[in-house]
Amino acid sequence: MARMSEREFEAFQGFVLATKLFWTRDMFLDLKRAYGSRLTDATIASEEPGPDRVARALEGDVANQFHGWFERHLQRMKYSGRLGLVPYHASRRDELLKGLDMGLVDGVLELDPDMALPDYYTSVDVHQHPGGVWNDEIAGLVYERGARSTTPLLTRDRDLHERFADIIRGRRPAPRDILDMGCGFGKTTQSLCEVNPEARIVGVDLSAPCLRVAARNAAISRTRNIHYAQKDATRTGFKDQSFDVVTSTMLLHEMPAGEVRAVISESLRLLRPGGLMIHLDFLPPDDEFLTYLHIGHSFRNNEPWMRSLMEMDVAKVMRSTGFEDLEIEPFEESPGALARAGATWRFPWTVIAARKPAQVT
Ligand SMILES: C[S@@+](CC[C@H](N)C(=O)[O-])C[C@H]1O[C@@H](n2cnc3c(N)ncnc32)[C@H](O)[C@@H]1O
Repeated sequence: MARMSEREFEAFQGFVLATKLFWTRDMFLDLKRAYGSRLTDATIASEEPGPDRVARALEGDVANQFHGWFERHLQRMKYSGRLGLVPYHASRRDELLKGLDMGLVDGVLELDPDMALPDYYTSVDVHQHPGGVWNDEIAGLVYERGARSTTPLLTRDRDLHERFADIIRGRRPAPRDILDMGCGFGKTTQSLCEVNPEARIVGVDLSAPCLRVAARNAAISRTRNIHYAQKDATRTGFKDQSFDVVTSTMLLHEMPAGEVRAVISESLRLLRPGGLMIHLDFLPPDDEFLTYLHIGHSFRNNEPWMRSLMEMDVAKVMRSTGFEDLEIEPFEESPGALARAGATWRFPWTVIAARKPAQVT
């Protein structure tokens, strides 16, 4: 396969990102205005508020069709277009694979070549990433490069992960052991190491290609308090009560409801008494129009489990599992993001936290 030109690739990805920004701001506002004007119709205004009403009101609306088309096809262009992430990385496969193993520190990475991946994980090309994040040795690098335009309004790529690591540190100072479930290529895991240099941080994920990128990044940044292991977050095999904090970032919406319940039970089992479970994910926004868009995003971005998470009573599941001191709060992914909510498209970021009782009865 001929090596793709870096310049052409960067120019194309820059175009996709710029168009995505246009979609995030201008097309979003056009659609919001279109819905606002439909609400002046007495029949629509009298309907039960909710995403179904928005869907009925916007059926056949051109701004709605453009908005959905751009969302679906920009993501497809980003991954699979002629200058997309997948063909670009495939055209550099050998050199990328060499780079992945360079400088790895012994003991940082533990892969399980016999790991059976669950059907929910292998049956969907999540994010429209052909083959998902697991099916190709270089899939972790594709995902890492692709994540740069997942949240296009964030100017600093790692910002939200750093902010979340700070929140965790604020709620559980001086932890000894932290587990990051569904760690991907280690964005939150790495931030956790930086803000908790005295702690041991473990990241687990199903994807060997992502974990290889995570371990390479740990080598580059010379991070020593980190360990990555290929494990299923629903049954990690770690000993009972071996962590002070169990966390995840964007894991829960990528698994069916039964697996989310299993992650919450596993978190309880793994925590020491008084330990903190804290997940960062997406829950339905308190707004029918934004909820309608979030449901649409789950279809258009191949994220079916976003919808089951939206329908789940997460607080009830945490309580019935045995957690206390529940907190479900909006998360500000960048400075001022909550104050600007509704002015641009954004994910409904939510911190989902609870404590394991100090006295287990
Ligand atoms: C959207 S990515 C988020 C990655 C990372 N936490 C981040 O914030 O960049 C979701 C991750 O969850 C992983 N995952 C999905 N199901 C899992 C499971 N049962 N156990 C462990 N990891 C899982 C995927 O492989 C993927 O890396």
